[in-house]
Amino acid sequence: MGRTVNDIVRMKKEGTRISMLTAYDYYSGKLVSGAGIDIILVGDSLGMVMQGHKNTLPVTLEDMIYHTKMVDRGRSDALLVTDLPFMSFQESVSRAMSSAGRIMKESGAQAVKLEGGSRVIPQVKAMTDAGIPVMGHLGLTPQSVNQFGGFKVQGKQEESARTLIEDALELQKAGAFSVVLETVPRELAEVITRKLDIPTIGIGAGPDCDGQVLVLHDLLGYDEEFNPTFVRKYAELNRVIKKAVTEYINDIKGDSFPDDNESFHMEQDTARKLREEYLNSGDN
Ligand code: KIV
Repeated sequence: MGRTVNDIVRMKKEGTRISMLTAYDYYSGKLVSGAGIDIILVGDSLGMVMQGHKNTLPVTLEDMIYHTKMVDRGRSDALLVTDLPFMSFQESVSRAMSSAGRIMKESGAQAVKLEGGSRVIPQVKAMTDAGIPVMGHLGLTPQSVNQFGGFKVQGKQEESARTLIEDALELQKAGAFSVVLETVPRELAEVITRKLDIPTIGIGAGPDCDGQVLVLHDLLGYDEEFNPTFVRKYAELNRVIKKAVTEYINDIKGDSFPDDNESFHMEQDTARKLREEYLNSGDN
């Protein structure tokens, strides 16, 4: 059996850091999981990095189920968590239950993540009461980008910081097994982390969280122009991919791909016959 939500909660108690990374398809699930990641998140960031949208709002429940199924086929031990996309849970508890229920029944996910604080507590409570593990998400919650007026640090002022602390405590009380803290001051993330019994997982929230998460494409450096403060690039895949594709094109144009070793062959007698009949007939 792979990792469970109980293992993740235990890691905080034992002081073991939690690693989380997004994945969106079979091979990313296989590679990330094979490397030993604790949690794979099928994030609705797929709207930006897979679908090319400027934010996560257009992502549908069907998209989330489709991508989670692929990741599930590739993963081994990692806990699999899937985002509830924009407007699949905000409107009502019953809408949230039916969306989370579909993800759990159809995709292979072991938990769902949803954005928001006090306004989603009834949804979190209903899901956890029904046996669906829930990861909360506070701070710069990207589904509210239009309300925030852009991708800005949240909780810098005392009042907004207090609201986020209260939201985190409410999520814990409602049964969430962990909370993502996105783009908040390090000091605030530290207070929330020390105050909660459940783990915090940070992105742009400093090193004091119990775990860290990044978007796979950011970590791998797919976009040379995307360089926010909180991303550490562990590779520059944009360069690797561009170099490989350029060499491939040059090899085709220069007649060096494919060579004879990269080709299949038939009996030489048959080949000779075909050449004589079709190429030496004087028609061409
Ligand atoms: O959608 C996503 O990838 C996320 C992470 C950035 C936490 O929510």
